[in-house]
Amino acid sequence: MTPPHRQQPPRAGDPGNQAAGKQAAAHAAAALVTPGMQVGLGTGSTVALFLDALTERGVAFDGLPTSQATAAHARRLGFSLVEPDNVDRLDLAIDGADELDHGLQLTKGGGGALLREKVVAALAERFVVIATADKMVDRLGDSFPLPIEVVPFAIGPVSRHLARLGFTVTAREGGAYRTDNGNAVLFARLAGGLDEPAEWDIRLGMIPGVVTTGLFINMADTALLGDEGGSVATVTRPSN
Ligand code: 5RP
Repeated sequence: MTPPHRQQPPRAGDPGNQAAGKQAAAHAAAALVTPGMQVGLGTGSTVALFLDALTERGVAFDGLPTSQATAAHARRLGFSLVEPDNVDRLDLAIDGADELDHGLQLTKGGGGALLREKVVAALAERFVVIATADKMVDRLGDSFPLPIEVVPFAIGPVSRHLARLGFTVTAREGGAYRTDNGNAVLFARLAGGLDEPAEWDIRLGMIPGVVTTGLFINMADTALLGDEGGSVATVTRPSN
């Protein structure tokens, strides 16, 4: 069976073999975790490699997972986990992304964990994104549709609202998919991409029934981008 985080629209130009880049970024991120840290644990295939890489480092830390899938993986590896109610701040959060632009604004949520990922990233002193270099785009929406978490009751109204704004909308699994929070996910595409992502985030977030968008605005501090040769480029968000 396809794991839930892979049941997502294909990326335009997906090279199919991103393994080396994901692995390199995951290992670089594992090196950032030092003993005693409280660390946000993202969701997705790159984060899964990061968790595996952490076992090799052998450091003791407390993790706050962003999904049931990540929590299950972390428990299997024997990591100590904490609950959000007991966390004021995290030293670090590590997560993947579906797209990044050159200002380090992100599209996330292809794995359906966008809401918890956003909550956890907002708690972090430092939010580091791990991804393959091909996920860097000139404009968000260029290669991946925007995931939007909506309450199931509002799938129809929100879809029609988005269509009126010019988006082409698909409900994940025909509307049957549910996030860990019991919500649905819509994938929304805009011809020409999202030229002003911060404004779109506010505008879309105000539609009744939208829980959150997959736009992560001014949240990422650093991106570790791995390439097929196993090299990692470090990109830092420009100050506003
Ligand atoms: C999950 C996410 C993931 O971080 C994003 O989909 C990237 O996943 P992967 O590392 O498998 O490419 O946002 O909601």
